[in-house]
Amino acid sequence: MGMRQRVDRWQTIAEAVVRAAHERLESGIVFLPVRKQLRVDPHPFYRTLRERDPVHRSRLAGGWVLSRYEDVIGVLRDPSWSSDERNWSRFPTYRARGARAGLPDPYETHVASMLRLDAPDHTRLRSLVSKAFTPRAVEAMRPRVALLVDELLGKVGPQRGMELVADLAAPLPVIVIAELIGVPAADHARFRHLSDEAVRLLGDGPLEEKLRGAAGMRALQDYFAGIVAERRARPRADLVSALVAAEEQGDRLSNAELLSTLVLLLVAGNETTTKLIGNAVLALLRNPGELERLRADPGLLPNAVEELLRYDGPVQLTSRMAREDREVSGRTARKGEQVVLLLAAANRDPAVFEDPDRLDVARRDVRHVAFGQGIHFCLGAQLARLEATLAIGALVERFPGLRVADPNVPWSSNTVLRGPERLHLAW
Ligand code: HEM
Repeated sequence: MGMRQRVDRWQTIAEAVVRAAHERLESGIVFLPVRKQLRVDPHPFYRTLRERDPVHRSRLAGGWVLSRYEDVIGVLRDPSWSSDERNWSRFPTYRARGARAGLPDPYETHVASMLRLDAPDHTRLRSLVSKAFTPRAVEAMRPRVALLVDELLGKVGPQRGMELVADLAAPLPVIVIAELIGVPAADHARFRHLSDEAVRLLGDGPLEEKLRGAAGMRALQDYFAGIVAERRARPRADLVSALVAAEEQGDRLSNAELLSTLVLLLVAGNETTTKLIGNAVLALLRNPGELERLRADPGLLPNAVEELLRYDGPVQLTSRMAREDREVSGRTARKGEQVVLLLAAANRDPAVFEDPDRLDVARRDVRHVAFGQGIHFCLGAQLARLEATLAIGALVERFPGLRVADPNVPWSSNTVLRGPERLHLAW
């Protein structure tokens, strides 16, 4: 590490300490998502925020943290809030430090994607891939996804135990998205490896981890570039070919955007689905009465998946930037400030959900925000629902007596995505 990078690192730590102290003085509460307790069970802290400081001034986040359902949904539904981090006043500083540390610039390399863009670029990019994710297109994938669940569970069937994440929850979404994109079967193992490496860039691990992630991301993009070249020569009935056709029609899609879209589909859809399945199975095993209800009435499954998304959805938060000074529930967000939206806290708001800390697989009208809301509403929501429904349904049906074999559950170290890293089960 060079002198300048070392200075950057110390400066980052010193700034965080000063800001945390400042934040505590102002409200008595510090929003510090890297705290281990928030990984294990964030809900007591979310409740404190909702009750004591629902529009929390966060020096660490450079803005505000919202935890009430109405406030969160109000921002999500209003596209005049920006998803483009370049509208965040701290972005230039973090961008410069990242560049000195050797990390790719999210807006100058292929990493920028529709998730971090506003209209009109967001609208154009989203419309190009949305056809692949319509309810009808996703429903057509049902038999194939069911077969994959069957194959993966078939491998562990004869044993009396499994590690849910490695045996089912992690491989399932990667294979599904690989097939949807058009990655050849022979490349699946390599593709999974590259995808696992690349997501290290997005976690909040140490710099070494992120640099490794950046290398993975470059390898993944090179890999996609190869597939794009092949489909340009010989189109097929897959998503890459459809995107190549859009690119060739002129100014609808640049090559860099094509690659960033493919990377986004991969990183937005894999770990999220893996962690949904992990959280959901753990929640059911910790609430055996609900598991029994589901076993007795499998028709409850689709509703149960919605309730599990509400009760313990994997995506904890997202954020928006203020393009000008504006009011948020009686307080003022200044131009350039960020508002952090705690989706997982909104999903347990007692003003909207009765007895919100109770898991109820038959709960009616589960209007959760686990997939967001508004123009950035999760494009893969139907696909995630399909995968989760088939995976959870098969586990419940085939393994009576299923239980957690090791109560020491290691949680992933990621601010945005919460879920078990490993989950040993027995039956
Ligand atoms: C349980 C699984 C999943 C959860 C909880 C989830 C959650 C979310 C959330 C909360 C957002 C909105 C972020 C924001 O507004 O800032 C989002 C956006 C997105 N998700 Fe998902 N997601 C899941 C699975 C998937 C899958 C399987 C795919 C695709 C294969 C996918 C693709 C996307 C894309 C492309 C966006 C960006 C949409 C846009 O910017 O217009 N997601 N997701």
